[in-house]
Amino acid sequence: MKPKVILTHPMPEEWIAPLQREVDLIVGPAGVAGVDESLKPHFPEVEGLFTWLTDRVDEDLLSQMPRLKVVSNLAVGVDNIDLEACTRHGVAVGHTPGVLTEAVADLTFALLLAVARGIFSAAEDARSGRWGLWEAARWLGYELNGSTLGIFGMGKIGQAVARRGKAFGMHIIYTSRSPKPQAEAELGARRVPWETLLEESDFLSLHTPITPETRGIVDAAALKRMKPTAILINMARGAVVQTNALVEALQKGWIAGAGLDVTDPEPLPPDHPLYKLPNCLITPHIGSATHTTRRRMTELAIANLLAGLRGEPLPHCANPEVYTRQ
Ligand code: GLV
Repeated sequence: MKPKVILTHPMPEEWIAPLQREVDLIVGPAGVAGVDESLKPHFPEVEGLFTWLTDRVDEDLLSQMPRLKVVSNLAVGVDNIDLEACTRHGVAVGHTPGVLTEAVADLTFALLLAVARGIFSAAEDARSGRWGLWEAARWLGYELNGSTLGIFGMGKIGQAVARRGKAFGMHIIYTSRSPKPQAEAELGARRVPWETLLEESDFLSLHTPITPETRGIVDAAALKRMKPTAILINMARGAVVQTNALVEALQKGWIAGAGLDVTDPEPLPPDHPLYKLPNCLITPHIGSATHTTRRRMTELAIANLLAGLRGEPLPHCANPEVYTRQ
């Protein structure tokens, strides 16, 4: 008998065909966040769970899945999953680092350039008949060359962003739990305290995982510490930034602009004040959304899942302590 696996939401047939050959796949509904109630009858037999980052996996869910061996998350972040609870239940958690690094770094720069040069509002002016004559001092933006790019969270993605920054002639500073000697040697990146990062960055790009230390760290005090000409880019998790403080910062000119691929809450309701600000550009959490990358993420997530079902170590495990627990 093939092991039973729940895929929480539908995905393109050709992406999941390799999984379908190996397991008895139950696919949850589209358009709902979370593991849908309709899947409940399968919980007692399910051995593998293939999740999206909008699905919460916690003690309550795990206790209903006594045969579960592996959770495979289609994301590098695993903040939707209670890792400790999974470890307690002997459930390995897979995630997809590495394969999405370049796509996320590309979108970081797309947002950074778009906000720096006001591309979205200028393009909207052109489209809606507000072009008028060429003007010397209209639609002025900020230049990357010679500016300082501050990176908070210098993991794989942070370093890929730093490489792009270097190519644009930017000086790189960063704040991270550990020093990155390679980035320092190759890119001239300088590790600085968080306060210095806030004060010196012309562009501050967030790439940290969300943890108790980083949740809400970009608060009113942090935003006031930044340059009034600075631009904030959030590619991490929405709740790293205090949303109300950001609204105030953009309205009052504490900083010059923001580009957000993640928000708190997510999705951001359509009437949210952030959408009304001309200096704020928001994309709907699409950092890894390229044809190539989402396909690779799926392949890796399937590899994690199948390894977990076989009781083998996952290619990328977010709770390796599961293998050594007593
Ligand atoms: C996206 O945010 C991810 O964690 O992969």
